[in-house]
Amino acid sequence: MPVTLTPAEVRAAVAKLPRVRLAHLPTPLEEAPRFSAKLGGGVRVFIKRDDCTGLALGGNKARHNEFLMADALESGCDMVVWGALVQSNNCRQTAAACARLGLECRLFLSMAHQKTEPQGNLLLDYLVGAHVEFTDAKVGPELYAVLAAKAEEFRKAGRRPYYWNPPRVVPLAAVSYALCMAELAEQLSAQNVTPDALYVSSAGATGAGVALGKKLLGFACPARLICPMHWPWHIPTKMADDANTAAERMGLPHRLAPSELDADESFVDPGYGLASPAGQEAMHLLATTEAILTDHVYTAKALAALVADVRAGKYRPGSAIVFIHTGGVPAIFAEPEKVLPGM
Ligand SMILES: Cc1ncc(COP(=O)(O)O)c(C=O)c1O
Repeated sequence: MPVTLTPAEVRAAVAKLPRVRLAHLPTPLEEAPRFSAKLGGGVRVFIKRDDCTGLALGGNKARHNEFLMADALESGCDMVVWGALVQSNNCRQTAAACARLGLECRLFLSMAHQKTEPQGNLLLDYLVGAHVEFTDAKVGPELYAVLAAKAEEFRKAGRRPYYWNPPRVVPLAAVSYALCMAELAEQLSAQNVTPDALYVSSAGATGAGVALGKKLLGFACPARLICPMHWPWHIPTKMADDANTAAERMGLPHRLAPSELDADESFVDPGYGLASPAGQEAMHLLATTEAILTDHVYTAKALAALVADVRAGKYRPGSAIVFIHTGGVPAIFAEPEKVLPGM
């Protein structure tokens, strides 16, 4: 079995890959004592503040983009073709990265149920100079096909596009969260905290990276990957594949089996992009005790899982629980009625 690595060894493995600095790192690891007290059960909750990564209001994509944009630049690309929902944090932070690096950014945003008024993430897409088009293609394989076709059109027109091509970009994005876990390991040890559980919102690259980092660094606690959406594939199998490709890219022999990924789809309801009552309660609990903001699509649902597990008595008193806050807050300005129901 491959050995456990130190944070410095993980960092050395990642250093073999091209990277551009875009994020404010390290992000703080903060204890949330008033939230913990309100939650009850005697647990201590710590928040890894990846909502503070910078790059046009923070979030997990600032870390991802350090590797994706470096890949784009190394491949000689002169533009980026990206897409997701209208209120995509991914697209907002990628558009911001493009602005910083002087790359043209073309966004194809899937409308689904979302409004197209310039608010929240969409407002910021425009503000940092992205070119936006709306599409009826559904997020997932249908939208990926649109992005591949658009990239091909640009290539034929003489451009050199870098596009959201999942087999290429997802493992590279996962590398950034294996690296985040090295950062977290050092912060926990500096604060003399041994975690009993980690929580993060993910059904993709971020969770694959967290699970890989947990394995590389020998974290003994569970890493609960709370899915914001269902995918038309088996999520743990896909995440394990992406984590393993990430390990390969880092030149490491460690591999994950799907059974090592604790991906939980039970907090998605009433659906991707929609607020849940449990998420709204968790969001208000954290905002009113710590003034730390979450969003209704991703982080509030992951926090709701943490709240539910603590209330179910899953952790003994004194347990330390780390919530990796992946950002997403700009979306609340576009859909205030989902944040303050009955407004
Ligand atoms: C705020 C936020 N949290 C979590 C995620 C999930 O990240 P991943 O796609 O890497 O699983 C996203 C994805 O867009 C996000 O915007």
